Amino acid sequence: MENIYPNFSRFESREQKERQLYQQGITLWFTGLSGAGKSVIAAALERLLTANGYFSTVLDGDNLRDGINSDLGFSATDRAENIRRTAEICRLMNNCAIIVIATLVSPTEELRELARRIIGRQRMVTVYISTPLTECERRDSKGLYARARRGEIGDFTGISAPFEAPQKPEVEIDTTGVSPKKCAEIIFSTIKEIYGL
Ligand code: ADX
Repeated sequence: MENIYPNFSRFESREQKERQLYQQGITLWFTGLSGAGKSVIAAALERLLTANGYFSTVLDGDNLRDGINSDLGFSATDRAENIRRTAEICRLMNNCAIIVIATLVSPTEELRELARRIIGRQRMVTVYISTPLTECERRDSKGLYARARRGEIGDFTGISAPFEAPQKPEVEIDTTGVSPKKCAEIIFSTIKEIYGL
């Protein structure tokens, strides 16, 4: 039901908080297959941002699924709810001028578009970690691909559920043979160009 008594105008504005933190509240939305390297690059990027005086945080799909999204599975409906809730959190944090790095498989354009609608087109940077399936499966850091191949996990992205590559991501990185630190530096310099941070 629609809330007919929104209270937004009473509170300190995002612009006020952005001035206070000397930065813009934006979301760097990492999409890519499981095992592509999203979380490890997010950690390196968070360190890099901190070292350069920016205030940021990581919202990691695996961690969120352990807490606020622990009631959700991997059906299309549950993934959409997973993305919706996460994007709402990104928006709340961006409104506090925080730079958010969100790492979710977010396997379809429809899901990423849902996030964009909630966060705001001009505040969301799509970062496609495009490490190919063969490499993700070779790494199989969590052993999930082997289990998915044995049929023990259903709807597994890349095996039994689709992954659509984003058409025009602001950044695309295949991590094969590239260190997480280097990937973080590439993303950092791109967002500095886009937002003049
Ligand atoms: S999303 O599709 O809804 O965006 P999310 O990023 O939250 O996915 O969670 C993906 C993580 O959950 C994977 O990295 C993997 O560790 C785990 N996982 C467990 N089952 C699946 C599955 N069926 N498909 C994809 N990831 C799965």
